[in-house]
Amino acid sequence: MNIVILAAGQGKRMKSALPKVLQTLAGKPLLQYVLDTALSLQGKQSKTGPIVVVGHGAVDVKDFLLNLSKEDSRFAKVTTALQAEQKGTGHALLQALSKLDVQEPTLVLYGDVPLTSKDTLSKLLKLADGVRGQDAALALLTQNLTNPTGYGRIVRDTDGSVAAIVEEKDATSAQKSIQEINTGIMVLPTNALKRWLKALRASNAQGEYYLTDVIAMAVKDGVPIRTTQATHEFETVGVNSRDQLAALERAHQLHIATQLMAAGVSLSDPARIDVRGTLECGTDVFIDVGCIFEGDVSLAAGTKIGPYCVIRNSVLGKDVIVNAYSHIDGAKVGNQSIIGPYARLRPGADLANDVHIGNFVEVKNSKIAANSKANHLAYVGDSIVGSRVNIGAGTITCNYDGVNKHQTIIEDDVFIGSDTQLVAPVRVGRGATLGAGTTLTKDAPANQLTVSRARQVSLQWQRPVKQVKKPVAKKAVAKKVLVKKAVVKKTVKGKK
Ligand code: UD1
Ligand code: CA
Repeated sequence: MNIVILAAGQGKRMKSALPKVLQTLAGKPLLQYVLDTALSLQGKQSKTGPIVVVGHGAVDVKDFLLNLSKEDSRFAKVTTALQAEQKGTGHALLQALSKLDVQEPTLVLYGDVPLTSKDTLSKLLKLADGVRGQDAALALLTQNLTNPTGYGRIVRDTDGSVAAIVEEKDATSAQKSIQEINTGIMVLPTNALKRWLKALRASNAQGEYYLTDVIAMAVKDGVPIRTTQATHEFETVGVNSRDQLAALERAHQLHIATQLMAAGVSLSDPARIDVRGTLECGTDVFIDVGCIFEGDVSLAAGTKIGPYCVIRNSVLGKDVIVNAYSHIDGAKVGNQSIIGPYARLRPGADLANDVHIGNFVEVKNSKIAANSKANHLAYVGDSIVGSRVNIGAGTITCNYDGVNKHQTIIEDDVFIGSDTQLVAPVRVGRGATLGAGTTLTKDAPANQLTVSRARQVSLQWQRPVKQVKKPVAKKAVAKKVLVKKAVVKKTVKGKK
């Protein structure tokens, strides 16, 4: 099938330098949602990809599409058609006409209606496909709204069949009371569409070529018109302003929360979670308020996430406890591990089972084996840490010499005393103990105590006594101030 995405409009009400279709919902540009759905509908085998009609901000939108296709080859199939002047939705579709395959139906989508599901669109395509052969139907996605203000209304005959779509600005007061609205999304027989688009006239309140006028033409030509509605109202909501974008974001997040709960996840408040990507959860996962999940995150069964955590592109095992305000990015966390509060796992942090990472501990590009602990105020970077290691408070791996990064290896059963610096590259042998305050610049042998601090001494000593200053007479103080002022005046004059 042909898929055309209309995305040339200005989006004035956004009051933004960014074209409207590039505004983000759950961290992803609106247009990308529509493209993802379009590509999944067309399938990998399809030779043609979606056609995006660009106009306002065309350079930015094309740049965005180019970057997308570099990141993901699926998007390489997307092409654009330029609508240099925005003269309405019918005029926009006209610009893509030469690219359409007349043997296939055409699905029209909107760049500012991001959340229409694949299921809903498949249903719509089936409706249009109902009669095989020359008499393909026109399928229209409509929606019943308690407040239909601003939308085109679906006008039906007494027998219930669709007669026309009337835009708000052209509607009579009787038509304005119609609650069934045009979502804008439709499937049309392409051959007839060509004819209809060329016959459009801009004789309406907005002086635009309305795509919606093809409905009355289809009725006249005896083309059957069928309608269906989306499962969820948010699927057909368009974004014109920032408050609509925020409202759609909440609706989208609430839908994700509902799906998570249906899959066996406990949320302490379904209105206070944000998933900006995909979140996979095992059963009995618990998520407290204010957490943000970005990219691809998976939490295995029984894992508990405390309040206000940010977790991005990470895999957490079973029965993990992440305490409040922890930040986990590009990390792997083994079963039964305990993270935070206030912990930071950075890309390449790879923790085995039952690892404890406590408050103000940062781990980057490091493997930590089972049953090891760094519970307070430490930095573990570019390291390999064995099992049953205890990293004391304030321990720092000095991995960076200002130019290059170096590795620290800490073998099994090591005990590192508090406030130790391990100047990499360096190795701590199995079972070694490092005394508190050690600055380790050479490898520490296994099973020995290594200490590098100065020996403690105690001396007889007299603490200095504060000298008492003589009180200064009041008059003298006043004089001093006067003298100072005079000096200031002089220098100012001198400057002139
Ligand atoms: C349109 C429909 C209306 C429907 C509503 C649903 C028409 C005439 N009206 O109205 O019946 O209820 O959508 O949201 O079709 N665009 C272009 N070029 C243009 C004009 C628009 O590409 O010259 C694109 C916009 O970028 C946008 C889409 O078409 O993605 C819809 O345009 P918009 O101006 O928002 O139409 P509405 O007035 O909302
Ligand atoms: Ca709109």
